[in-house]
Amino acid sequence: MRHCMSPLDFSIEELDQMMDLAARIEKNPEGYAHVCDRKKIATLFYEPSTRTRLSFETAMLNLGGQVIGFSSAQSSSASKGESVADTIRVISCFADIAAIRHPKEGAPYVASLHSSIPVINAGDGGHQHPTQTLTDMTTIRQIKGRLTDLTIGLCGDLKFGRTVHSLISSLVRYPGIRFILISPEELRIPDYVREDILNKNHVPYEEVIRLEDAMPQLDVLYMTRVQRERFFNEEDYVRMKDFYILDSEKMKLARPDCTVLHPLPRVNEISVDVDNDPRACYFRQVQYGVYIRMALIMTLLEVNE
Ligand code: CP
Repeated sequence: MRHCMSPLDFSIEELDQMMDLAARIEKNPEGYAHVCDRKKIATLFYEPSTRTRLSFETAMLNLGGQVIGFSSAQSSSASKGESVADTIRVISCFADIAAIRHPKEGAPYVASLHSSIPVINAGDGGHQHPTQTLTDMTTIRQIKGRLTDLTIGLCGDLKFGRTVHSLISSLVRYPGIRFILISPEELRIPDYVREDILNKNHVPYEEVIRLEDAMPQLDVLYMTRVQRERFFNEEDYVRMKDFYILDSEKMKLARPDCTVLHPLPRVNEISVDVDNDPRACYFRQVQYGVYIRMALIMTLLEVNE
């Protein structure tokens, strides 16, 4: 039985197969409408979510399966002190697969150790968000036609943004990837990402503060929200929150084929006047998230086409 804790749980070949499956699902959704008949997914969300939880639920419903779960710790027996380990043992009696989001780094991994069903990490604290990475990679591959030879700008809260950590750790395996890491001094990527992932893999990168300096070089601009929920005090958040605002003026500096992505939710970091720019692909990204989660569920449940 396999779990999905990190994008590195899958080889590049396996990721390619999953993204190919997602592309086939996009072309022919009817062909997959019953492949998970009578299967259930449990969505165990100890932290707020709109996209990830509903995307998993939509993915399972699209495959003919069913959905159970909770959307906050308060509405579950976690509020009475039940551990993640006990919870997943119980859920293993109810469902065939589980997606878990938790504010504590490593909580989905702990669940996987006690589970008799596949567990998917749907975001753990500031650590990893592998299915957002699968979504991001699928989006880039569909729009750019490749995951190699790209200059990718990651902008905003690179310290707490778990989607950024997951995306970097996955894309370093592809040749020709170069990163421009755009953040204020206080929100630079964690040392472990710089040392253990970028430097260790000899991946070229620059760290810059000004978005304007990076814009003309980018094939992909990945904007992120400042993660208010991870700050220790509100004052620091308020000082940082509007550090970057991508608007139509700044978009004039971007290449005509630059792809703008954002894991969403956005707050102020992308002005709504960018939404109609053909290079703004963050809502298409959400749709790809459903296809790749369908492919992931099928893969982990070893469901045949
Ligand atoms: N991108 C993402 O994880 O969004 P949600 O927090 O709404 O799930």
